[in-house]
This record gives sequence, structure tokens and C-alpha cells, in this order.
Amino acid sequence: MATPALTSRVLNSSLAQRIMSADEAAALIGSGTRIGMSGFTGSGYPKAVPLALARRISDANLRGHKFQVSIYTGASTGPELDGALAMAGGIHLRLPYQSDPETRKRINAGEMDYMDIHLSHVAQYVEYGFLGKMDWALVEVAAVLDDGRLVPSSSIGNNKTWVEQAEKIIIEVNQWQPAALEGMHDIYYGLEPPPNRKPIPLVHPGQRIGSPYLHVPLDKVVGVVLTDSPDRNSPFKPPDEASRRIAGHILEFLGWEAQKGRIPSNLLPLQSGVGNIANAVLCGLEEAPFENLTSYTEVIQDGMIRLLRTGKLVSASATAFSLSPEMLAEVNAEMSSFRERIVLRPQEISNHPEIIRRLGVIAMNGMIEADIYGNVNSTHVMGSRIQNGIGGSGDFARNGYLSIFMAPSTAQGGCISTLVPMVSHVDHTEHDVDVIVSEQGLADLRGLSPRQRAKLIIDRCAHPDYRPALRDYLARADRLAFGRHTPHLLTESLGWHSQYLRSGRMRSGGDN
Ligand code: COA
Repeated sequence: MATPALTSRVLNSSLAQRIMSADEAAALIGSGTRIGMSGFTGSGYPKAVPLALARRISDANLRGHKFQVSIYTGASTGPELDGALAMAGGIHLRLPYQSDPETRKRINAGEMDYMDIHLSHVAQYVEYGFLGKMDWALVEVAAVLDDGRLVPSSSIGNNKTWVEQAEKIIIEVNQWQPAALEGMHDIYYGLEPPPNRKPIPLVHPGQRIGSPYLHVPLDKVVGVVLTDSPDRNSPFKPPDEASRRIAGHILEFLGWEAQKGRIPSNLLPLQSGVGNIANAVLCGLEEAPFENLTSYTEVIQDGMIRLLRTGKLVSASATAFSLSPEMLAEVNAEMSSFRERIVLRPQEISNHPEIIRRLGVIAMNGMIEADIYGNVNSTHVMGSRIQNGIGGSGDFARNGYLSIFMAPSTAQGGCISTLVPMVSHVDHTEHDVDVIVSEQGLADLRGLSPRQRAKLIIDRCAHPDYRPALRDYLARADRLAFGRHTPHLLTESLGWHSQYLRSGRMRSGGDN
């Protein structure tokens, strides 16, 4: 039986009649269905029905009945969703981004299909019908108003699309989410499909152009489940020496760009990717001499909250919170103080190429590896094993004013050089990459030919242990390649990777 405190979050009497348990809701979902779920970087994902569905799937499997569903989300979620459903063997197809270890294991074992899609593309791919009919929307919200509009929770992701496109809807109302989230969201309802699409009227990161509420066709809602469960994001590691040095190089570079008048003194709107290096850059900004910063990005991280508190950051636009557990507790307690300065939008708007290009976003994203010509691999270890996914990095890198990729110069205790002759998988081509940074230094590739880029990347970014081998490769390729525009020795260019797979250590000089 729901407590009065919980039911006070469901003010619409018709939807209140549809309150049911998570097990009852999960029992409505059939095998073979496609479900659009809320959730973006461990925030705002449904927490009770996926667990109940995973139990149901495990029971079916024990009885010898194959039961699988396809799961579409905003991006990564939490253990109660990806972890539980993957563990039960319940996911047939997953998209568009995920970072759960069990799901990663199963995708790389070939037991689960995964489609890695630009985050800005997902909503329109579904609306255009490229990804099949949506059977279910399963969406967490903070509250239901008396007229049936929904107050979104700590992420928006693709929720607008899921509730519009799905045949049936299940809503999880999570009392753990602060009521003060009401008013923080901005859901744009003006995107028509081509050829009727109009310009999106957003010209400043903090601008609001839509509604704070999700509008949902009430007749499609078949169940409302009450929960009281926390979001679960991973804690950030304190920035290590390499991350601090990478951050230092980027901030020095941005300072020079401002001095040269190529960007304003308060910079341009910042996009900061996932992970510890991105957070180190934000920490570095606390000490840097920039004021009145803005951010147009995907996720609000710990560093952004600190910048908002000191007033260095004046407004932040994203689609989700991605906070450490400690910061999350603090922010939830003071949510109303951020309501004017944080805007959460659907990811098709937070990552929209038109807006990223118009605002002139400075995009900073992590990478697995880059090659000497500036092609970047963000997703695949040794060319075949997916780590997470491209996420929004392509949306921002392709369309930003400045596209920066960053990584330590080595991985796995120095056995791997992250600067290689040729990347083993390409997510961002040389045409979309302006700057590469490692703890060794920064290579500004703008205006350089491929051979000039190669020299600079090796000199500035490669680890000294790998520099001679990279120089040797470039010199021999320059003599012996089929063409000298982008010189490569095709029998050697991926030899560093195959050497690592054979011996556990990358070496120069090819396969033999
Ligand atoms: N070769 C092999 N393994 C590598 C590697 C390389 N070149 N570079 C990193 N790795 C390994 C690390 O050793 C680590 O392995 P471990 O888990 O066994 O320790 C793992 O990959 C993760 O590396 P780490 O340095 O901890 O990653 P990170 O947290 O800084 O994230 C990315 C780096 C690239 C994985 C991450 O930024 C990402 O997923 N990017 C794509 C999506 C994106 O950019 N989203 C933002 C858009 S808003």
C-alpha cells in the first residue's frame, strides 16, 4: 500500500488510480518488445520496474523460455537497469550509450547486440522510424501534476520522444528526487520533421525556449509505480598528476586564444565530456583567471557545481546531472538555489548540431587513442572491444568552435601508447579534431597538413618512451609510402596493436 507521502507526488486523480507495484508493471511487458527508458549517466533512470523485469526474465529463463527485450535510453544508467537486465541475459539490443561492466562484457562476448549512435540522432531516428516501433516508454519522473503534466527528474535524455512514440507508458514517480527540481527543465516542443523543420530559437546557453514539464498522452499510461530510490553515479577519483597536467595545458591554451582575441575573455560555452580528466579541467577552471563562464554540455559534473557556487560559471545547460554521491547529497539539499542557473533539456537539444555550431561551443572530450594524423578513437580497445560508446563526443566535436581530445600518453602501466601510427577504430576523423592533449603537451592541429600534424603530435603529445619509434615510423613511411600526403606503411600501421595483443606490450617496428 502506498504511503500518503508517496501518493502526494501523484496529484492527477486518474493517474493515481493506475498506481501499481513494480512486479505488476513488469508483468505487462512482453518478450521481444522495444522499451524506451529514461536515464542518462546514472541519473533519472527507472529503478524498480527494470529490477522486477530482470526477475521475471530470470524466472522465464529457468523454465526454459527465452525472454529478451530491446532497451533504448538516453545514455548510461545504473546497476538496477543495465546491470540487472544484462545479468539476467534479458537484453537483445541496447542503444545508444552504456558504461555498465556486465553489459560491456556481454556485448564483447557477442551475446548482446549494441548500436553505438550519436546521442543527438536517437530521437529523430526513432521519430523517422529508422529504429522500429516503440512498444513501451518506462520513464522516471519527480512528480505528476493535477493536470497530468510530469515534472521530470534528474535527467531528461530522450523522455519526450519515448512518451510521444511509445504505444504504452509506465511512469515511475521517485520521491527521492527533490521536489525543487520543478522548473529546472526546458522541454522544447517546436521540432517538426523535415521539410518543415524551423530554426531552434536558442541563442544563449541559459535561455529557456520550452516547457518545464513533460506532456504525456494520459490514455497511454497503463501503470504508475511509486519509488524512493537514489540515483547511483560513480565517485570521481581526485585528479591525478596526468589529469592535472592535461588540464593545465588546456587552460594555458585557452588563455592564449583569449589573448589573441580568437575567443572572448570569458571563453565560449564549455562542453566537458565524461570521466576524471574532464572533471580535472573543471577543477583547474576554479583557479584559472576566467570569469562569467557558461556551459552548453550534456552533464552537470561536480566541478561545474563548484564553479556555479563561486559565481565563475553563470549558467549551465545540460540534459542530466552526473554528480559524485557526496556532491549529489549537497546539491539535492540546495536544489532550488540552482534552478535559475541550470537548465536541463532533451538530449536532441543539448547535443543539437545547429545550436552547438551557433553558440561556438569549446568541446573537450576523452579518447582511447589518436593517431599521428589526428584521427581519434573514443570507443574501441584494440579495434574490436567496445569500452563505452561515442556518446555525445561526435555531436560536439564535429560542430564545436574548438574540438579538443585528451588522454594520458600511455595506458595500462605504460604498456600502451595512446598515440599510435594508425588508430584501430575511427570515431572522429582528422577533419573534426582541432587539438590533441596529453600530460606531455598540447598539439594545435589547426591549419596544418597531415605531415606537419604528425610531427607536432609526436613531439608534443607522445610519451618519450614511444617518441623514437613513432619518429622512425613516420620517417620510413615518408620514404616508402604509396603516397606522401598522409604517409603510411600498411603492413605496419596497426602492428603496434597486434604486438600488444601478442605480448601485452606495444612495440614499434611492425608485426614481426
Ligand atoms: N588502449 C587500450 N586500453 C586503453 C587505452 C588504449 N589506448 N586507453 C585507455 N584504455 C583503458 C584504460 O587502461 C582503462 O582500462 P581499465 O578499466 O582496465 O583500467 C579503460 O580503458 C578506461 O580508461 P580511463 O583512462 O579510465 O578512461 P576515462 O574514464 O578517462 O574515459 C574514455 C576515457 C575514452 C573511455 C571516455 O572518455 C569515453 O567513454 N568517451 C566516449 C564518450 C564521450 O566522449 N562522451 C562525452 C561526450 S559529452
